[in-house]
Amino acid sequence: MASCLRVRRTSLLRIALLFASLVPAAAQTAEQVKNFPWMNPRLSPDDRAALVVKEMTLDEKISLLHGTGMSGLGPVSPLAAKSNGGAGYVVGVRRLGIPAIQMSDAAYGVRMSGENGRYSTALPSCLGGAASWDPEAAYEYGALIGRELRAQGYNMSLGGGVNLAREPRNGRTFEYMGEDPILAGTMVGQVIKGSQAQHVIGDIKHYALNDQESGRNSVNVNIDERSMRETDLLAFEIGIRESDAAAVMCSYNRVNGDYACENKYLLTALLKHDWNFKGFVLSDWGGTHSAAKASAAGLDHEEPAEIFYGDAYKKAVESGTIPVAELDEHVRRIVRAMFATGVIDDPPQKGVVDVVGGLDTARKIAEQSIVLLKNEHNVLPLDASKIRSIALIGAHSDVGMISGGGSAQVDPPGGNAIMPPGKGQTHWQDQIWFPTSPLKAIKAKLPRAQVQFNPGTDPPAAAALAKTADVAIVFAYQWESEGMDLDSLALPGNQEDLIAKVASANAHTIVVLETGSPVTMPWADEVSGILEAWYAGSSGADAVANLLFGDVNPSGKLPITFPRSDADLPHPTIVKPPVKSTTQDGDPDAWEKIADGLPAFQVHYDEGLKVGYRWYDTEKKPVLFPFGFGLSYTTYAYSGLKVTPGNKVRVTFTVTNTGRRPGAEIAEVYAALPAAAGEPPKRLVGWSKLKLNAGESKEVSIEVDPKYLSVFNVDRNAWELVPGAHVLLVGGSSDDLPLKESVHLK
Ligand code: BGC
Repeated sequence: MASCLRVRRTSLLRIALLFASLVPAAAQTAEQVKNFPWMNPRLSPDDRAALVVKEMTLDEKISLLHGTGMSGLGPVSPLAAKSNGGAGYVVGVRRLGIPAIQMSDAAYGVRMSGENGRYSTALPSCLGGAASWDPEAAYEYGALIGRELRAQGYNMSLGGGVNLAREPRNGRTFEYMGEDPILAGTMVGQVIKGSQAQHVIGDIKHYALNDQESGRNSVNVNIDERSMRETDLLAFEIGIRESDAAAVMCSYNRVNGDYACENKYLLTALLKHDWNFKGFVLSDWGGTHSAAKASAAGLDHEEPAEIFYGDAYKKAVESGTIPVAELDEHVRRIVRAMFATGVIDDPPQKGVVDVVGGLDTARKIAEQSIVLLKNEHNVLPLDASKIRSIALIGAHSDVGMISGGGSAQVDPPGGNAIMPPGKGQTHWQDQIWFPTSPLKAIKAKLPRAQVQFNPGTDPPAAAALAKTADVAIVFAYQWESEGMDLDSLALPGNQEDLIAKVASANAHTIVVLETGSPVTMPWADEVSGILEAWYAGSSGADAVANLLFGDVNPSGKLPITFPRSDADLPHPTIVKPPVKSTTQDGDPDAWEKIADGLPAFQVHYDEGLKVGYRWYDTEKKPVLFPFGFGLSYTTYAYSGLKVTPGNKVRVTFTVTNTGRRPGAEIAEVYAALPAAAGEPPKRLVGWSKLKLNAGESKEVSIEVDPKYLSVFNVDRNAWELVPGAHVLLVGGSSDDLPLKESVHLK
């Protein structure tokens, strides 16, 4: 009886749908849509997706497989007229109540707001966010992005960058989360979780090993399987596990021979099978190179337009080259992601972005992210009651602070702060300064003192001003963007000379860095204070001033090593492609050339497991500032380490604030594996950020995920613990680990 009823209901539904398909889409009422069985929110996303895919025509399925084009990047379909103005627009299936997907880049805020007459908050750069080591701050970061996406009419984020900083000169280092897979994966996971909680589809990118921009469309990255599983891919694995990310963007480059977007190992064997990823894979913009091969490898969706996943794909299905089941699986994943994240049940409502709330969140995260690198003779915090004069020098610090470029670029309100008002439209790879003025913020702290600005273009003149002041503060910057890499980690232009000259004129010189990557500092010994502010976002100047004057105690730590020189990096120079052809080079045929496939050039990551601090540790190379390092205006002591073996090793210890100010300390736990593991000397396996009042002690207890103590066995395709003595090391920085205890595992 029950089955008879089901058959009857199914056939009634089919008749209703047939009727609905004959009626113009616009005539579909909300009531009709609501009554479709897949609109029942009590069903699982899997069931809902299965139900709706069954009802789709071939054309409807194909329409979900690709975007509709982005001007300047290949063909643009007339359907793109309905785009919300973001980087990607996928028409929905209105007949069945499946809405369009409106995608926007959103690395540190929502992109293209200027072009669309909207407003977005700029958060600190992603690397800055990672420097907070605070998963709650990362969640807030993602939640703010989610809210602003929805207010602007988007239902999908293209943020979530987590390529490991294997090449710190990568022009997108600021978009990523540093050099450690566990820190980066955990933090990006929280960002995505925060966004998806607002009911937008979250994305993690660029999968995988897109660790340099030079020749990104043609480079073939060579790396052994164990190394990638334990480093770059582990960051993705953790990020996806923590967030249940609904989308993965595959990258432009090739990995061990195949393009990432048609790489069966990456997309199917690992992502969809071993990691049980339930969402869909979309190609980076122009990163699709085939229909049949990519489809079989696991690519679900092509962006930004249909080159391979439109008519060509349809023909391949009709001719049987691509099985219908394979097509259905791609479509199922896409609509499942929409059900799972709530974009169908709770579509975005356009509204006014909470500007004031955004400025507040951006400031709080910046205050947690800025890292105090040097504080000789406690030059900081500055005592506002004693200072009569400050010389403020360089980096347009009278009007603004720099931001990161490329598809991550957030548009500043009122335009580029260094240009006349109204002339501030942002263009690809312009250097954009946000109107957050250090001069104003510092003056607000010192209403009775003399604060004078010098642009720093003429170092002797800047030094002359510095000589007359109680304190000199030099703002220095290193700009970077998608589509380029840095030639070196040195500060560009005359800034090294500027800092050296100012420092020799004033014994109280403080440098505030606005950088996307680490920088080398031949001047470090000459200055008294160094603050790394990264790209500090919409409220950067207030955050910096609050730290300089001690309203906030610094608590950020480096998510990336600062080496002494480029020569100390695993690759002293970046391998560049023999043939340059990118969509940004002004080559009119670049798009076609990229789609067809540029000749590969090789990059060999022979350093393998030795990424970041693991490289410097193994090679015994001294560094300028180590991974995990950051000072505070108070001091902390570590004691009482206890390591308890078990399914999850438990590490317990006590941290005491031994100074006179309240603060927040990031307590770090590393593990040194038994020699038989063949690993670099140590790896981060956990941390905790804890608030402590002056004199207060707290016990910290961290459970270590067994995977974080394991190595990847390629022959068995499994993570395994290497039996023997594992040494757990605890402290406040990767090179300052006063507590140590060994535990025998297995
Ligand atoms: C970038 C992606 C971005 C896409 C859309 C590409 O050039 O690599 O990160 O999401 O453009 O703007």
